[in-house]
Amino acid sequence: MATLIDGKAIAASVIESIKTKTQRLEREVGVTPGLAVIIVGNDPASHAYVGAKSRMAKECGFTSFQHTLPEGTTQAELAALVASLNTNPAVHGILVQLPLPAPLQTDPIIQSILPEKDVDGLHVVNAGKLATGDLETGLISCTPAGAMLLIRSIHGSDLSGHNAVVIGRSNLFGKPMGQLLLNANATVTMAHSRTRNLPTICRAADILIAAVGRAEIVKGDWVKPGATVIDVGINRIDAPERGERKNRLVGDVAFAEAANVAAAITPVPGGVGPMTIAMLMENTITAAYRLNGIAAPSP
Ligand code: GUN
Repeated sequence: MATLIDGKAIAASVIESIKTKTQRLEREVGVTPGLAVIIVGNDPASHAYVGAKSRMAKECGFTSFQHTLPEGTTQAELAALVASLNTNPAVHGILVQLPLPAPLQTDPIIQSILPEKDVDGLHVVNAGKLATGDLETGLISCTPAGAMLLIRSIHGSDLSGHNAVVIGRSNLFGKPMGQLLLNANATVTMAHSRTRNLPTICRAADILIAAVGRAEIVKGDWVKPGATVIDVGINRIDAPERGERKNRLVGDVAFAEAANVAAAITPVPGGVGPMTIAMLMENTITAAYRLNGIAAPSP
């Protein structure tokens, strides 16, 4: 059985360090970090995520500004809200929960967020800094940044000589994950829905990262013996064994099979999930320090 990578514990230690940084910012410049989260529409899963983000912001000592907008909000209304948050000095981080309901266009909204407040790391300025190897002055997408901390807990910060395979090429996860791995000297393969011979490619991975969005698609025989497996998927499947209409969360990896082959693996839940929220808080405190002209303490 593989070692379980305990995302809950690693996230908890990140959160503890953020609380100390919040106190320092208040002591030194009298500023409380502020995180604004915007959600549009009624998607229950998105509301659950946003609620968790607001609660954690408060736990970190931040001011949490939650803006819940109705389905039917116009592009101009949403843009006006972002513009007002951009100029609000009490707000250091802005997150627009995705996906936005149709017909709202995501990209103009994301690109209108001030890069210094873009705690999702999705603005082209932040994506470009990461792509050009500047990991110091921008903000990095939370889930890949969190996955990277989990990988570092097993392999350290230098991945020279390791083959890493990322399944998924989204702007929110796959692309920044590939950049972070490359920056840490891994040899990176980006796989996706059009990739042929996916199982064979995965079997070459010393570090296999699955962000497909399909329940348990990565099988045990896709995993190289001794590999590290990072499961980014969160899928809800029926669980009739728990009773009528019950369901449970599973990842993109068939956990029991993969855990027999891997050396280290993240569980779902309790792996990457808690890291995403922790890194959102980390980005917010970093943004708050920078916006107040103080060098951001390293994580
Ligand atoms: N929806 C699912 N994950 C995320 C995320 O990390 N950021 C935002 N903004 N929306 C999401």
